Amino acid sequence: MNLLITGGAGFIGSNFVHLILKEQSGVNLVNVDSLTYCGNLENLTSIEDNPRYSFVKADITDNEAMEKLFAERNFDAVVNFAAESHVDRSITDPAIFLKTNIIGAQVLLDLTLKYKVKRFVQISTDEVYGSLPETGFFVEETPLAPNSPYSVSKASADMLVSAYVHTYDLDGVITRCSNNYGPYQFPEKLIPLMITNALEDKPLPVYGDGMNVRDWLHVEDHCRAVWAALEKGETGEAYNVGGSNEWHNLALVKELLKILEKPESLLTFVKDRPGHDRRYAIDASKITNKLGWEPTYDFASGLRQTVEWYLENETWWRRVKSGAYQSYYKQQYDL
Ligand code: NAD
Ligand code: DAU
Repeated sequence: MNLLITGGAGFIGSNFVHLILKEQSGVNLVNVDSLTYCGNLENLTSIEDNPRYSFVKADITDNEAMEKLFAERNFDAVVNFAAESHVDRSITDPAIFLKTNIIGAQVLLDLTLKYKVKRFVQISTDEVYGSLPETGFFVEETPLAPNSPYSVSKASADMLVSAYVHTYDLDGVITRCSNNYGPYQFPEKLIPLMITNALEDKPLPVYGDGMNVRDWLHVEDHCRAVWAALEKGETGEAYNVGGSNEWHNLALVKELLKILEKPESLLTFVKDRPGHDRRYAIDASKITNKLGWEPTYDFASGLRQTVEWYLENETWWRRVKSGAYQSYYKQQYDL
């Protein structure tokens, strides 16, 4: 299979590249990524010389560059991870979210049709469903009710995929996952920010009352769900992916401090995120029943393993926090 993945230098995309090269010997991967602030080729140094892998620096909204790529390679499938993904940034600068997450998806969808690529997988998010009260779960039939510019852009892309399936017979599948954690996550997101701040004895900024709830899943389990959707998902269907693992933010941050043996005095309550969704919780029974997917990590060991990864990869996160990682592409590719 010749697989195009977009956004493969980011957190989930790079974990997907590692997993597929390790476990799917029949897959050749092309990773197209424009290397925004969160695209980091240092996530991929161990596989960059693998003959089944190649990297192309390009923007998914650049129709000409994308068309060149589709025309040159005979892709069997596209998995679209590329996105602006941080909710806080979408609140201060929505425009780039609409461009990358909506227009980027449209460019890829048009080329998927034009070059008769067999399957398109859109990596979406549980945030498209909006916020839950204290009870209940998101199912695939839950109406889309996004609240942030980020989630609106992701919901728009989902609707575009559905429209292309309906109108043009595109073979498209959507996955909607809950919050991921694991190696290579950019330290602006909750778990890596808290781990790295604690290691530096810096304050841990908890938004509002810290009682917002998120449902955490190990990134490798998300990647396995994406593979299941690519291989076995039914055209036009969306699949929720989650860990049945709800945590209040405050409890989770305290748990990280306990693992790191750092004091709770580092906790700092800060002004809440505007429009902050209160609770997300996924019912993942459809992907389990229809595609046989189940999480393999239990949270206690997955979280410990993640903390250990950040302890063992201090150079990686220090280079991210200092901005030094952005010179890697220049050294490797700009010669
Ligand atoms: P990330 O921000 O870590 O990585 C995004 C990647 O996309 C980066 O490598 C970046 O350089 C690239 N990119 C951004 N704009 C681009 C463009 N215009 N052209 C080409 N490449 C571009 O994101 P992530 O956390 O790995 O998320 C990946 C996908 O999964 C996103 O679509 C996100 O919405 C979705 N998702 C994330 C989570 C999560 O918890 N992180 C959960 C569910 C779904
Ligand atoms: O649910 C899936 C989504 O999870 C993905 O679609 C997004 O791409 C991903 O970024 C993530 O969104 P969240 O907004 O849930 O993740 P974040 O790590 O930014 O925040 C998790 C929770 O922690 C949220 O309730 C806000 C809170 N928070 C976050 C940060 C960065 C804090 O309290 N303090 C912080 O400094």
